[in-house]
Amino acid sequence: MKKIIISAVARNGVIGKSNGEMPWHSKEEFQHFKSTTFGSPIIMGRVTFDTLGNPLKGRLNIIISNNKNLNYNFENVKIFNSLNDAFVFCEKNNYEKVFIIGGAKIYQQAMQFADEMIISIMNFEADGDVLFPKIDDDIWEVASREKRNEFEIFVYVRRKRNDNKN
Ligand SMILES: NC(=O)c1ccc[n+]([C@@H]2O[C@H](COP(=O)([O-])OP(=O)(O)OC[C@H]3O[C@@H](n4cnc5c(N)ncnc54)[C@H](OP(=O)(O)O)[C@@H]3O)[C@@H](O)[C@H]2O)c1
Repeated sequence: MKKIIISAVARNGVIGKSNGEMPWHSKEEFQHFKSTTFGSPIIMGRVTFDTLGNPLKGRLNIIISNNKNLNYNFENVKIFNSLNDAFVFCEKNNYEKVFIIGGAKIYQQAMQFADEMIISIMNFEADGDVLFPKIDDDIWEVASREKRNEFEIFVYVRRKRNDNKN
């Protein structure tokens, strides 16, 4: 099962605001996110789910929280107390791929397990205090780049062990 991180990141690294407000709205980027993730489970932190307010349609929404009593009255939502439990569930249910959709705390932990990262770098800087974690280029390399109007999509894959950057 492929574990894929997907994120939209402003040129200055911002992905959000800790008060839950979205720093930008890009219909074009949301469409890319929707078409990429549609049909696959999406894994997110509890804070990100609360920011969304509702589950995203057409995808199993998996929420990670420490709260063992957390309960949302939505279909299409599952809650796990760890990222690993979520991955085990998805493996057992034979999903080909899962998307890790944020936020920063979840990205930070998922980066060590992810096979791929699909990062939309927006064409602007944004106001906000939640940042995408640093991408270590000893570990990750850019496999492809694709320009859109409001952003550029960078697909990162893990470097092969014997790659020599020099
Ligand atoms: N631009 C983008 O692509 C993008 C995507 C997603 C989110 N965002 C933004 O990111 C921000 C939210 O990010 P965030 O870092 O504050 O929060 P987050 O990663 O969405 O959620 C953090 C919460 O997840 C739970 N959690 C995290 N690690 C856990 C673990 N190992 N075990 C159990 N539970 C765990 C905890 O929930 P409990 O507190 O319930 O225990 C924790 O408080 C928002 O501003 C949002 O808009 C941006």
